[in-house]
Formats: sequence, structure tokens, C-alpha cells
Amino acid sequence: MSLRDALTGALVMGPMTKGSNLPYRRLCVELGARVTMSEMTVARRLKQKRKSEFALIRRFEGEPFFGVQLAGTNPEELGWAAGLVESRGASLVDINCGCPIDYFTRKGLGASLGRQPSRQRRLVEAMKKGVTHIPVTAKIRLGWNDDDRNYMDQARAVVDGGADAIVVHGRTRNARYRTQADWDAIAEIADAVPVPVIGNGDVLYGHQAQEFLTRGRCTAAMTARAALIRPWIFREVVEGYQEMDAEARLAIYRRYATLAREHWGDDEHGLERVRLFTRWHLDFWCRDVPRRADGTFPSMQVRETDIPVSSPLDAVLRRADAAALDHLADCLTHQREVVPGDVPPPSTDQADPRDRETVEIEG
Ligand SMILES: Cc1cc2nc3c(=O)[nH]c(=O)nc-3n(C[C@H](O)[C@H](O)[C@H](O)COP(=O)(O)O)c2cc1C
Repeated sequence: MSLRDALTGALVMGPMTKGSNLPYRRLCVELGARVTMSEMTVARRLKQKRKSEFALIRRFEGEPFFGVQLAGTNPEELGWAAGLVESRGASLVDINCGCPIDYFTRKGLGASLGRQPSRQRRLVEAMKKGVTHIPVTAKIRLGWNDDDRNYMDQARAVVDGGADAIVVHGRTRNARYRTQADWDAIAEIADAVPVPVIGNGDVLYGHQAQEFLTRGRCTAAMTARAALIRPWIFREVVEGYQEMDAEARLAIYRRYATLAREHWGDDEHGLERVRLFTRWHLDFWCRDVPRRADGTFPSMQVRETDIPVSSPLDAVLRRADAAALDHLADCLTHQREVVPGDVPPPSTDQADPRDRETVEIEG
């Protein structure tokens, strides 16, 4: 399938460290995702033959259109890694120019590449040389900070390097998640470049994919946090808003645990991985916010309070404290029934995890 065909009108599941694990991508594909992305994969670690890095680039059988995202600063390494991921079955290869985390930016990776458009061009060129057939894309932010919104320079640079599409996360590196994504800036880029643009930022409900896409004049929209919070968002793109009661949500969480067991195995070691990942996902799942009674939709950026609780199970699934999350993770991992009365109360010395910054892990 051509890149443009794959992307047109699609809601792409964004690349997410930890979140885009293979069984979670399977879940999202079952729920309607047509284009998926890997976790960020460091080209140098592939070169060092690290098993854990090779696990990140694995496509599952039947994964419709799977992009692998690479991080790196060295043209030879990135060119080699792009060829490798092509040989392993990726449908596209992307370069991460958006990761804001100090550990990576200090090494010149991720968002710090956005400060050097000519380097971005050279890296994309090297990746183009490394592949035979598959498209090469770049995921950028709008700039380093509000004083340096150089998105046009970045977009032109990666296109000059041969990028076949650009993913634009509509925030600066320093903004992290604090500001709303600027879809007008995304539209400016889409108007100026000859390749498809995938707009990214704040899509929380299925119908918003088309709304944002139209506003951003893009070929596709991408969602990340919403895929973690409400994976049925992909079904909503086709079928419209889904009212998911607690039983329906729990069935989806159970399905994830089953896919995770299939992937990691149900021996002691495998089950521990399943539990850790399920526990991590529960921390996002508990943030699902339904449509309001007046028919309006909450936004990704403003935390909703006073969410009506429809049943004891609903109340349990909305809890964000460690006691509830640990208990639910155990039930899901070991395929036990969730009995609301059995879930321990929040421990008094635990701070509500929702008080922390919405997401610490980001790209
Ligand atoms: C848990 C998590 C991990 C992420 N990891 C990556 C990553 O590895 N590479 C990347 O380009 N972006 C990463 N991101 C950023 C998202 O792909 C996306 O650009 C950002 O969250 C904005 O989209 P949203 O508003 O739909 O969440 C991550 C985001 C989250 C929440």
C-alpha cells in the first residue's frame, strides 16, 4: 500500500516508549487502528545488537502498516538501521526529532535535532540511502521554545533530505504538554510542503481526528495519550462516539492482558512482565472521561472533575491510587474476576498520582 493511501484520513497510533508495546498495538489494531508506530528505537543500540532494542522493531503478524521510529545523530548508523528495519518488515521508518527528555537531548538526540535543520536534512538523506522501498518520515516539534519556533526551517530541511511525510507534534520542546497543540502552525506546514503531513496533539475522541485534520489541513492525524487512555478511539473514528460502560472497558483491559500473556508468556517471568505492563496501562486507563451529560466533550488538556460514577465497578476502574491499580493489575494478569468489594481502600499515605504532571514520559 502506498504511504498516501495508508495515511489518507487515518488516525495514526503515535510512537510511545513503553506504550507502543507489541501487545498494545495488537489491541489497538483489533479496535480499528490501521497505522501503528513502534516505540523510539535507538539506532546505536541496534548496531550493538541489543536484544531489547530488536524487540522494539518487531512487527506482529497481520499488523497492517507498521512504522519504526529511530533515534540517532550519526548518518551512517541511521542509514544502516533504516535498512535493517526495512529488512525486518517495517512499512516506514521515522526519525525522532521531538523527544524532549534531557537524557536524550543532551546527547543531541530527539528535539535537539530540531535546532539543527541542516543536520536533520543529512540524517534523512542517510536514511533514504539506507532503504530500498519503504518511505522515510521525520517527527518534529514546532521548535525548541516560543522564541525559536523554527518549524518551517525543519520542515523544509527534512523535505530537502527526501522525507516522504512529516509528523508534526504541535508544541515546542519546552512546552512539553503544558500548552494546547497549535494546529494552525501544523496547517502552515501542510500548506508549504509537497509531502503528506500527519498532525499530532490533543486528539482525545474519534470524531476529533477529522476535526483536527481539517483544521490542520493534514493528510492524517496522530494520537498518543488517547490511544493509551481510551484505545477504542480507533473504533470511534469509523463508528462515532462509543459510550463504554465499566464492563465494556474491563473487557478491553482483559483482552490486553490476554494479548500480553501471549506475547510474554505465562511462566513466572512472563507473568511478571504482563503485570508490570498492565499496571502501567491501568494508570492511563483510569483517566478515561466520558462525554458530558450535555453532549459536549472534555478536552485533553483540561482535567475533568466530578465525573459521574455509574456503578461500583466504574468507581473502581476510575481509581488512580496505587492500592487499586495494584489490585486490578493482579486480577487482570491472573485472569481473576474483579470484585469491587475486594479492592482495598486507598492507602492514606499515598498522594493521588493524578496530582503529578499529566505524563512524565513523552517524546
Ligand atoms: C507514554 C508516552 C511515550 C511517548 N514516547 C514517544 C516516543 O518514543 N517517540 C515519539 O516520537 N513520541 C513519543 N511520545 C509523544 C507522542 O508520540 C505524541 O507526540 C505526544 O504525546 C502528543 O500527542 P497526544 O497529544 O495525542 O498525546 C510519547 C508520549 C507518551 C504519552
